[in-house]
Amino acid sequence: MKLKQTINQSIQAAFDKANIDETPMSVSEATKPEFGDYQFNGAMALSKKLEKNPREIAAQLIENIDLSGIISKAEIAGPGFINLWLNPLWIASQCETAVVDTRLNIGTREKPVKVVVDYSGPNMAKQMHVGHLRSTIIGDTLANLLEFLGDEVIRQNHIGDWGTQFGMLIAYLEEIGEDGSGSLKDLEQFYKDAKGHFDADASFADKAREYVVKIQSGDTHCLQLWQKFIDISLGHCEEVYDKLGVKLTREDVRAESFYNDELENVIKDLDKTGVLQESDGAQCVFLEGDEVPVIVQKGDGGYLYATTDLAALRYRAQVLGAKRISYVVDARQGGHFKQVFKVAKEAGFVPEDVKLEHIAFGTMMDKSGKPFKTRDGGTVKLIDLLDEAVLKAKDAIKDKEDYTEAEIHDLAKVIGIGAVKYADLAINRESNYIFNWDKMLSFDGNTSLYMQYAYARIQSIFRRFDGELKGNIIIGDALEHRLAIMLLRFEDILDRAATDASPNQITSYLYDLATLFMRFYEQNPILKEGVDEASKMSRLQLADLTAKTIKQGLAILGIQVVNKL
Ligand code: ARG
Repeated sequence: MKLKQTINQSIQAAFDKANIDETPMSVSEATKPEFGDYQFNGAMALSKKLEKNPREIAAQLIENIDLSGIISKAEIAGPGFINLWLNPLWIASQCETAVVDTRLNIGTREKPVKVVVDYSGPNMAKQMHVGHLRSTIIGDTLANLLEFLGDEVIRQNHIGDWGTQFGMLIAYLEEIGEDGSGSLKDLEQFYKDAKGHFDADASFADKAREYVVKIQSGDTHCLQLWQKFIDISLGHCEEVYDKLGVKLTREDVRAESFYNDELENVIKDLDKTGVLQESDGAQCVFLEGDEVPVIVQKGDGGYLYATTDLAALRYRAQVLGAKRISYVVDARQGGHFKQVFKVAKEAGFVPEDVKLEHIAFGTMMDKSGKPFKTRDGGTVKLIDLLDEAVLKAKDAIKDKEDYTEAEIHDLAKVIGIGAVKYADLAINRESNYIFNWDKMLSFDGNTSLYMQYAYARIQSIFRRFDGELKGNIIIGDALEHRLAIMLLRFEDILDRAATDASPNQITSYLYDLATLFMRFYEQNPILKEGVDEASKMSRLQLADLTAKTIKQGLAILGIQVVNKL
């Protein structure tokens, strides 16, 4: 496995010789051209520690910095900053290596981590809603990203397939007698019809209750009906996954019911560790600082959402061996996860060194700021939403060049689905998200269409170039310098996005990169008459690396590129 240093690590190494303190360096990109390319801003913190004036510290560092590699110039500034200029030769050679490498010379982790990413998690008794859409999109991106960086990713789809509602639903499925897939297309309607029947017909209601008990006690007939119901429901979810192009498969499903046999043990083991307390007949764990306890078993013996999650946590840590477990779930479940994480650690279900995190995201709102609903207040069917995205995408590109009907169709799929995904990923995930078709399908601004357009534009340069790409990258003017550094920053960005589980760092980066490239291209023509051969070759390689970086970045976000737009 190849290991490579990111820009940040390379600068750090150059500082190592200065060896003034063990503290990791604190360097960030310069905010103004006159501050150089990067800026060291750790002298203030060091000055407290070493009881020395920050400027003195900066001066001492500068004297000893290695100026033979990545850094070509270091200058003290202000009260003790160090402005750093990167060596154009170093930058150029890094870009040359990246452009011919399938991984763009991005390293993989020295110590890969086994990570469980829990995402999507639709409920089989209900229509998959926009919250599940966000979980599916963000979760899949996180899984892709960690996988790309070399972690061992285990995708887990914790579907809700257990609970008392299923008695009524399977009794109804049996009653309508058909193969069920037709009327189950709209789960919400199916649920309403079943409930209507339940309320109106006492003997049906009795049967439904009887079926709840029967599923739970393992009655073959009822379990078969239940299995059929789950199969059909899950099939609908898979249609959505398919349209979205996310990588979840049936193998990734570890449904709530998967943990049924473990629930009793969870309670027993909690009891053994002494954290269990009875309260109003229910079995609870009281956590320090929390007013409400975690209820793990109801008075009637029934188990709860939290009980299943405790079993799942134990399975993931102990059977799957995960060292990081990431739950991509609506922010409103924050309290739930905080509690079950604590209980799982206190009870020793999950070793101390396992990182548990709730990757929370905000609610999807409509333009007027209300939670996203259909006109009559129902749940928006995701499949309809995605179909609409494709139709709207068709509309957005209808005036484009000469495409056949079939090409337009394929293009619209890539653009429409890309737009929905990108819009979701481009915001800070914890914010509420305002769904806006016009904005997400615009060629301007931080959208997938803009990124796909930038990519296609570079491809059109290469369609006009019929030669062999050779020669060196030459960092000529300031824009070229900035573009090259921007390209090399990709790895640092991915690293940070993975640590923070925040895809919007990738989208912001891609947007900055594409915008910078457009400016660069305006100022530095490539195929125009009069451009000398060496500059042409150099710029072509920078253009190529830009396109490849956009393509790789979008691939991590689960979005495809198109060659022509
Ligand atoms: N089914 C849940 C819901 O719709 C999401 C499941 C999330 N994962 C978990 N392990 N609790 O709210």
